[in-house]
Amino acid sequence: MPEGFSGGLEGVVAAETVLSDIDGEHGRLLIRGMPLERLAERGFEAAVALLWEGIVAGELDSGGMVVLLGKARIAASRNVGRWLPSARGKAVPQGLRLALAAIPDASTPAEVAAALPVALAALTRARRGLEPVAPDPRLTTAADFLRMLRGEQAEAREIAALDAYLATVIDHGLNASTFAARVVASTHASLAATATAAYCALTGPLHGGAPGPVLDMLDAIGSPERVEPWLEQALEKGERLMGFGHRVYRVRDPRAEALKAALLRLDPKAGRLALAQEVERCALALLKRRKPGRALDTNVEFYTALLLDALALPRENFVSVFAMSRIAGWIAHAFEQRRTGRLIRPASRYIGPRAA
Ligand code: ACO
Repeated sequence: MPEGFSGGLEGVVAAETVLSDIDGEHGRLLIRGMPLERLAERGFEAAVALLWEGIVAGELDSGGMVVLLGKARIAASRNVGRWLPSARGKAVPQGLRLALAAIPDASTPAEVAAALPVALAALTRARRGLEPVAPDPRLTTAADFLRMLRGEQAEAREIAALDAYLATVIDHGLNASTFAARVVASTHASLAATATAAYCALTGPLHGGAPGPVLDMLDAIGSPERVEPWLEQALEKGERLMGFGHRVYRVRDPRAEALKAALLRLDPKAGRLALAQEVERCALALLKRRKPGRALDTNVEFYTALLLDALALPRENFVSVFAMSRIAGWIAHAFEQRRTGRLIRPASRYIGPRAA
């Protein structure tokens, strides 16, 4: 009978990977050997090409990935009629679950990944009483998603900001959703089933569901003079401040810095930035005072909220926009798990009653 037990599997190594490496002490992230900062500059399709090396046929560069994902968005758009009628009127994460469930099991990696931007745009438009806009396969994922969502071409600086965001959050070690993906992939279930499970894990507020609540917090605070009393009161009530803390990072999450830079490039006067910076400054000071034994710093979700808000994306979409990127990571991990891993089947320690 195994003896060791680590709550939340903290510190447990459950996979070997060549996909990403987090240095939590120094705040550094490598994606397949490339520093995050360089990847963010190269954009989403380049990041997918890097992660999917050996998964899709041939050696794809950024341009090749634009073509592959573009064709896959066209295929995904043919599927929309199968799930949209029942997803209409549902909350976005719930509607997206229906879209994911409708992805055919035999789909290729590109078809699974491309289903999300198509579905999210169609679902958001349906909630406004609008028809879906057909994909343009020549565009990047960022450009086409904003176009399908709005029904018109986005500005170049908006596309660049979303592209940098998608590249920044594409993969991040064995986070909860990626672990969920690896568990499902380890049973040799389909890629569509793997992505659906991972998406469900992502939606919780302790993981990818935090940025919507970050904006709720900024709204509730409202003005700079209310920052400190509001945060004090929240902590007094035992609440967690959304956008702060991380299982692995003991310093500032490097993705927060990359996203702040993208936000400043998009709009140096971004509406909520001044208030957000005051909230960040005050939250870090309060967390340091109240939790001296635990180094809590800003995580990726704080600036995700500000960036996606500056792109005028509805906050109920934030977790699904995150998934549009992370799905490429889940897919890479699924392949790696199937190639190199075993069935994931940990043990539990029974602490219930035993018959006398
Ligand atoms: N606000 C207030 N207190 C916090 C916060 C926070 N954001 N984060 C951690 N703490 C406290 C905990 O209450 C705990 O205190 P205690 O020891 O007195 O009970 C201590 O710090 C350690 O917390 P853990 O639960 O051990 O931290 P864990 O590694 O399990 O959690 C997590 C990490 C879930 C991200 C946590 O920091 C949190 O809830 N943050 C807020 C939600 C959030 O921002 N989620 C997005 C994370 S990034 C991502 O997943 C993409």
